[in-house]
Amino acid sequence: MDRTVGLVGAGSMAQALVSGWLGGRSALPAGSVWACNRSRDDRLTALAAMGAAVTRDKGELCAAATTIVLAVKPVDAAAALSALAPHLSAERHLLISLVAGLSAEAIAVLSGQPDLPVVRAMSNTPSAVGSAATAIAAGPAASAAHLETARALLSAVGDVIVVDEADLAAVTALSGSGPAYVYLLMEALHQAAGRLGLPPEVGRRLTAQTVLGAAKLALVSEHTPHELVRQVASPGGTTVAALEVLDARGFSQALVDAVVRAAERAGELGLAASAAALPEGGAALELPVRP
Ligand SMILES: NC(=O)c1ccc[n+]([C@@H]2O[C@H](COP(=O)([O-])OP(=O)(O)OC[C@H]3O[C@@H](n4cnc5c(N)ncnc54)[C@H](OP(=O)(O)O)[C@@H]3O)[C@@H](O)[C@H]2O)c1
Repeated sequence: MDRTVGLVGAGSMAQALVSGWLGGRSALPAGSVWACNRSRDDRLTALAAMGAAVTRDKGELCAAATTIVLAVKPVDAAAALSALAPHLSAERHLLISLVAGLSAEAIAVLSGQPDLPVVRAMSNTPSAVGSAATAIAAGPAASAAHLETARALLSAVGDVIVVDEADLAAVTALSGSGPAYVYLLMEALHQAAGRLGLPPEVGRRLTAQTVLGAAKLALVSEHTPHELVRQVASPGGTTVAALEVLDARGFSQALVDAVVRAAERAGELGLAASAAALPEGGAALELPVRP
């Protein structure tokens, strides 16, 4: 890929990306990754140790890099974009935003470049171990080639799937927040293991490997999750006894309701973030979940 990348933000997501780009598999050549942050030297030092060129000067970063990756918290995005604005060019730069909620149109406005190609991405915390579920969406000015660049760069930290921008609130609820639902399930399984007298380390390993193995099987299997449940549950057996308890307590419905509520909340936060960026209430609003 003949692209140089400039990370704005040097936190967890930046670390995962630099590790994917310059670590074992070396997806990018040395010297092609730049990073800047706001104040913490230790974070820049960590990225420099991984092979990134680091700077505090956004002008230097934008001069060196053709793809800018915005990896700051949503609350810091407007300030970061206005600091980038004088150095960005719609002809030269692609901006990939990892920031939840802020629409591509709002990003282009905040960056002072209405025609700036923007690709939005929603990733999740397993990016730290190269197993993210990331969805990307092209903004109005992004071409198929821009989308492909974003896909190639983000695949360094896991799986990447292309969606419409309007679907990012649903993605945020499903896979962005998703690790929390799985960890809650794992915590409950740990508790059950303890109640049944298993040593904590045995419960922890069996739980994690069960989640990992079930996910791997679901990814490659031609069967639906419903059919995979049936394969584990023989009539009159232990799994069926457990499933009866889960059914009686509304386990599946509670999860569905939780994800729908998360999507509504992502829509609300997206509206707030984009409306703040576009005080005249422009059209750059993330759509709330469909009924
Ligand atoms: N971590 C994940 O797995 C994950 C998953 C999904 C989505 N995301 C999204 O990805 C984005 C980054 O998340 P993160 O976990 O990496 O955050 P983080 O660890 O808090 O790092 C944020 C970075 O942004 C820097 N920053 C803040 N304002 C800045 C500015 N004006 N100019 C330059 N740098 C600035 C901070 O600088 P200092 O170092 O000086 O404090 C810090 O390095 C967020 O929008 C988050 O919602 C992350």
